[in-house]
This record gives sequence, C-alpha cells and structure tokens, in this order.
Amino acid sequence: MSSENPKDLVPMFFTNTAKSYDKIVYWTTFGKDNVWKNKILEHLSTEKTVLDLACGTGILTKQIADKIPQAKIIGLDITENYIEKAKEKLKSYQNISFVNQDAEKLNLGKKFDCITASYLPKYCISDVLVKNCIAHLNNGGKIILHDFTYPKNKFVRKMWNFYFNILYLVGFFVPNWKKVFVSLPYLIRTTDWITAYENTMKNNGLKVYKQDLTFGTSSIIVGTKII
Ligand SMILES: C[S@@+](CC[C@H](N)C(=O)[O-])C[C@H]1O[C@@H](n2cnc3c(N)ncnc32)[C@H](O)[C@@H]1O
Repeated sequence: MSSENPKDLVPMFFTNTAKSYDKIVYWTTFGKDNVWKNKILEHLSTEKTVLDLACGTGILTKQIADKIPQAKIIGLDITENYIEKAKEKLKSYQNISFVNQDAEKLNLGKKFDCITASYLPKYCISDVLVKNCIAHLNNGGKIILHDFTYPKNKFVRKMWNFYFNILYLVGFFVPNWKKVFVSLPYLIRTTDWITAYENTMKNNGLKVYKQDLTFGTSSIIVGTKII
C-alpha cells in the first residue's frame, strides 16, 4: 500500500484512467473538484500567459481559458494518454497548446505570468518543482498549487476514513481505479506537501498565501514572485 517515492504511483494511477477521469473526479469528490478549481480561478484575472502543470484531461486548463480568453495557455502533463484526451476535448481552443513533459524536468524556454497545478504537489519534491516554476515565472507572477490534504478535525477525519473505506470496496467494481482507491488515502495521510511547499516558497523569496478548503480536505497555496 505504501510507496517509497510518491512519483512511482504516477504511472500506476494514470496509465489506464484517462478515459473515465472526468467522471470519477467529479463523483468521488461530490462535485467539490469544481468548487476547488473555482477557488484556483479566483486568483487569476489579467494574466497573458498561463502554464497548467499536470493538466491531465484539461479540466482546469479549459476553465482558465474560459475565464481569461485573451491568455495563451500551455497544458503540460507527464502521462501521454491524459494529454491526448485533453487535446481531443479542447481542440476548438486556439489559445491552448499541450506539452508532454515531466514537471520536475520542466524546460520550456519561456516564462509565464501564472503557473497552476491541481493534484500535482504530493507527487513531487517541493524544492525541485518550486525552483523549476520560479525559473519559468515572470516577475510579479504567481504559482498556484492545489491538492488534497488530510483533515485535522477528528470528526471530519473519521468521515474521511470511512469514505475512503467505501471507495476501497468500490474499487473492486472499477478495476482501472482500484489502485488509486487503495493507495491514494495512504498518500494523502502521509504527505505534508503544504508545509514543504510553504517552506520552499518562502526560502526562495516568494510571498506565500494559504487557503484551506472544504473542512481541510484540500488546500491551495499561492506563491508570488515579488518584483
Ligand atoms: C489527478 S490528475 C489531475 C489532472 C488535472 N490537474 C485536474 O485537476 O483535473 C494528476 C495528473 O498529474 C500528472 N502528473 C503527475 N506527476 C507529474 C509530473 N511529474 N509532471 C507532469 N505531470 C504529472 C498525471 O499524469 C495526471 O495527469
């Protein structure tokens, strides 16, 4: 169930799940995924260039393009099947392009006004990801990271654990998602991505803002590159 390196889980979770991802993320979060992505969007307004790391099937990428249609947006993901799905879904958007690349080896040769990532931080080493992002960020630009967190409140924790026990059983009926439903709760319980990214951002001179969402079941951290 456990894994030495969270990155090893990425091919296990994502190689065969692109087709059903949009429905699964909607239903398993009771629609909260959409609420959380709207919270990410609240931090965006007049950016001209946006890089959406770990764009997956392009759910957030599309929402960014709809909110700021004048922006040029790149969606980037390590998993080819997800990028293919995103390309197919968003082919009518002239201002979105896609790159198949590892965010921990980010090398795009250009800078952005904003870099977003939803559900990526827990798979990466904070020092590597933040430094890569800073190297691709214009002065005054923002890095907006979002991911699941293990709730601190005891009652919410009980409900959270109960819910993941149900998902564990559901996994027997949706084989492609079984590994995710079995291993994801352990990863969320053991990761302290928020503290790691907060410290790394501060150590690298970024101004940091944190936001807990839905009883502490997910969080957003925004790092601004001060001019
Ligand atoms: C749960 S999906 C999230 C997709 C999208 N951000 C969303 O919110 O719907 C996680 C995505 O992270 C991608 N991913 C994981 N590690 C990555 C890395 N090092 N570089 C780029 N993408 C990565 C996976 O391929 C997968 O598509």
